[in-house]
Amino acid sequence: MAAAGAITVREETWDHRRIVRVIFDLPDKPVNVLTTETMRALGEVLGNLEQEPPSGLVLESAKPGVFIAGADIHEIEKIDAADAAATVAREGRDLLWKLHTIRCPTYAAIDGVALGGGLEAALFCDYRIVSDSPKTRVGLPEVTLGIIPGFGGTQTLPRLIGLQPALDLILTGRQIDGRRAEKLGLADRCVPHDTFQEEVEAFVMRHPKKAAWPRRSPPFFLIRELTCSMARSAVLKKTQGNYPAPLAAIAAVRRGLGRELSEGLRIETEIFSALPQTRECKNLIRTFFQMEKFKKYSIPRLEEMARARGKPAPARACAVIGAGTMGAGIAQHLSACGLGVRLKDIDVKFLQRGIGAAEKIVRGSLARKRIRREEARDILARILPTLDYGPLRSAELVIEAVLEDLPLKRKVFDDLERVTARGVVLATNTSSLPIGKIAEGRPAESQGRYIGLHFFNPVDKMPLVEIVVAPCTSDETLARALEFVKAIKKTPVVVKDRPGFLVNRVLMPYMNESAYLLSEGVRIDHIDRLALKFGMPMGPLHLLDVVGLDVGEKVSHVLHEAYGDRMAPCPLFERLRREGRLGQKNERGFYLYKGGKKQPDHALYDGLPAAPAIAGEDITDRLILTMVNEAARVLSEGVVDDAETVDVGMLLGTGFPPFRGGLLKYADDRGLQSCVDRLYAFSERHGARFAPCDDLVRLAKSGGRFHQETVR
Ligand code: 3HC
Repeated sequence: MAAAGAITVREETWDHRRIVRVIFDLPDKPVNVLTTETMRALGEVLGNLEQEPPSGLVLESAKPGVFIAGADIHEIEKIDAADAAATVAREGRDLLWKLHTIRCPTYAAIDGVALGGGLEAALFCDYRIVSDSPKTRVGLPEVTLGIIPGFGGTQTLPRLIGLQPALDLILTGRQIDGRRAEKLGLADRCVPHDTFQEEVEAFVMRHPKKAAWPRRSPPFFLIRELTCSMARSAVLKKTQGNYPAPLAAIAAVRRGLGRELSEGLRIETEIFSALPQTRECKNLIRTFFQMEKFKKYSIPRLEEMARARGKPAPARACAVIGAGTMGAGIAQHLSACGLGVRLKDIDVKFLQRGIGAAEKIVRGSLARKRIRREEARDILARILPTLDYGPLRSAELVIEAVLEDLPLKRKVFDDLERVTARGVVLATNTSSLPIGKIAEGRPAESQGRYIGLHFFNPVDKMPLVEIVVAPCTSDETLARALEFVKAIKKTPVVVKDRPGFLVNRVLMPYMNESAYLLSEGVRIDHIDRLALKFGMPMGPLHLLDVVGLDVGEKVSHVLHEAYGDRMAPCPLFERLRREGRLGQKNERGFYLYKGGKKQPDHALYDGLPAAPAIAGEDITDRLILTMVNEAARVLSEGVVDDAETVDVGMLLGTGFPPFRGGLLKYADDRGLQSCVDRLYAFSERHGARFAPCDDLVRLAKSGGRFHQETVR
């Protein structure tokens, strides 16, 4: 039979049965996506088969590791009105309806990612066979893009696996592996990747008839209502109502489930059509593409260097100095990525504690079924503790993670200079000390090896690494560090060696301002609640407690010294220090942490003014606009290349709400003049720390924006 663009159709005879294989393989693309063109091609194929259906139709992919990655997100990004959105969804679901109703059994053979519309196509088939390959992941990530599954997923999935598990997958966008898919009943069989094709053929032979549908009858009305309203409350609590898509998904499931599938699909389309044109959706899609771009971050001059001299080989053997929280976390993560790690400290006690911390992370991954038992064993076996520098001779990259103390760090690097070979990258995980000061006074040929690799706590969960480039850092070292960060599956942002780099520098005014608000009498939980309502993952006072008030104090002094009065720590911190409040670690900071419960510590209000009448909007603006102002300075000073880097750094380093598209995108959307006016008003009322920086004022005056063009 003829090939139709991205789809090849092969007719074969399997054990006397006429089987049609519909094979997706988008030319020149790394993944298959359901573009309008691909869907049209699939429509033609199904149309041709309708007259004379085969004995079986198998949907599959020729791309290794990918089944279908969903509808084309570029096309969704362009939708600007409800009728256009409805057309896209209607055409998609009508096409898949044909697949559902064709007069022969249909099979989806999934050996790779099947996401969004890709999984929805599979859900309309009679059967799903998945592989046990680690690359096989199925899910409906639409809500993470600000939409709901629009090709039937909100209706087919609950009818296949039941209401509660379906809501769980739809509302979290979670991707599951083949085994889990089989367990949930989403897949009929999970088979070995190595013999996938044979297993698919055997399955098809054993299942010659169309499957019964639906596989599950809908729950009683009351159960459905209760489950959906509980899901709605949980979503509202988690998102503060900032994300319309999960609420819309619940509505689609709730309204559609007790009806005929065709009616449910109509309801889904109606609800879907209100979403792609929202600002939340546009910002979430923008964030998706930004993340894709930064995961593959490259610097043109380094690419050129690589073309001339070849790409640096990724480091396989690493060393981490210091087995504290950060050192142990880094060692665990490197080992989880398959690298050999020497973990060095000065005392067996510290090493034991570090290994214990790594074990705890591994146990957590095991409990969440992220890794298998053998993998857990291997991860721990690859971390080799040492008290001596000798075994570090074979390391190709070293990360120092000792206390934030310049003389101590310099001493560690003196020792490393003696044992490491010439080309070895010498990285520090300092969160605030200048890399240049650590490298200062060393032989010129060695200084080029120094670089900052600033990880975030907890290392296994936080996706960002700031790569800090000092004037002495060589391009060779930068290129190696960049490849290294990508190889360990973290997202890099490249920053200049200025105190606080990007994330801590921009975040500090936000945390400091929260203490100023408290010292004016605003209640602790009110401040944090407003930050959560804005979309921050944690309130600033809670965050300070989690980071540790002693750690915060150290960073704030470095920043104060570097940037002057606007970064002066709020005087309230001095009182907290006197009272021995360290935060969560000694169960006493802004909150008290007793028996796992967090309560604002009312004792802190003693001596403070009574709660003032400040509008919530003022509180939020004071917190957020101080960050915008500092980020504008970061850009003016060339600490990062562009506004996009600021946004990605803040998104991944602090959890700045993705639905707002990034800190500077938020400022752009709100209007820079409005930001400047507010900052002027605050500076008059609360002090010069709010004075908008010159470049921000200039940009606002010229009617400019931080982001000039689109992400791609
Ligand atoms: N649409 C458009 N482009 C897509 C895409 C999609 N659904 N999925 C992936 N791509 C692009 C990526 O942007 C990337 O482009 P680039 O080469 O220009 O940077 C390229 O394909 C390859 O992707 P990756 O390099 O990220 O490959 P990975 O192997 O690292 O990851 C992936 C592959 C897991 C598929 C990841 O790209 C991904 O998560 N894609 C998004 C999946 C998704 O959200 N699907 C739902 C779409 S919405 C939908 O289906 C709506 C429907 O219900 C109506």
